[in-house]
Amino acid sequence: MKIIKCNTIEDVGIAANEIMSEMLQSKPNCVLGLATGSTPIPLYREMIKDFDSGKTDYKGVVTFNLDEYVNIPTDHPESYNSFMFQNLFNHVNINEDNIHMPNGITQEECDEYDKSVMDCGIDLQVLGIGSNGHIGFNEPGTDFSSTTRIVDLAASTIEANSRFFNNDTSLVPKQAMSMGIATIMNSKKIVLIATGRSKRDAVNAMLNGPIDAVCPASILQKHSNVIVIVDQEAGENINK
Ligand code: GLP
Repeated sequence: MKIIKCNTIEDVGIAANEIMSEMLQSKPNCVLGLATGSTPIPLYREMIKDFDSGKTDYKGVVTFNLDEYVNIPTDHPESYNSFMFQNLFNHVNINEDNIHMPNGITQEECDEYDKSVMDCGIDLQVLGIGSNGHIGFNEPGTDFSSTTRIVDLAASTIEANSRFFNNDTSLVPKQAMSMGIATIMNSKKIVLIATGRSKRDAVNAMLNGPIDAVCPASILQKHSNVIVIVDQEAGENINK
């Protein structure tokens, strides 16, 4: 895995965007895998800046999002659907027909989503990481061969995400639809971004620990084209 250490959160966004804009420019009809959470927001800001300056164009771009809460209305302010429109899609010229958000509850819907992802083939997948090492919503203990499915969120994830729900864990959805680890691993290229002290242990386990379901992100050690971009706080324990 290639590791890029940046000083600030903004620099992480700029470094990730360099990879993104290279993809958008070299393959105008590329397939992007997109993530939510606070970490990718600086990247999305940079992507919008590039679009505004005419450097990039989204009319041929296809996107698939990693995950979405179950039983949350699409227009709920904290749905990942709302997040993506607010932070990226409303600001670029993407064709809405090319946007794919996971929004099912049955295994059949999950299988259909997985098939679309696999058939299109993700050129560049953006990932964050949970402080427990999750990617997407693939919590510790997830089988590395997992595909898109409905998952139960770990107590630590519900706690971490309660900051978006008035700090009230009872308001956080308890399940999500998530691409599986095998689905994510099928991406041609992956850029994982992590910022802040709370990600330090997860980043260290991902890079230096054994490949073990205890840290789902550790499977990325087996992918041949992963770039990990961290700020100083998240990268402090990296020693290789
Ligand atoms: C969330 C999402 C992940 C995200 C991670 C970290 O719950 N399911 O896709 O990468 O947890 O979120 P954040 O960037 O807000 O720390």
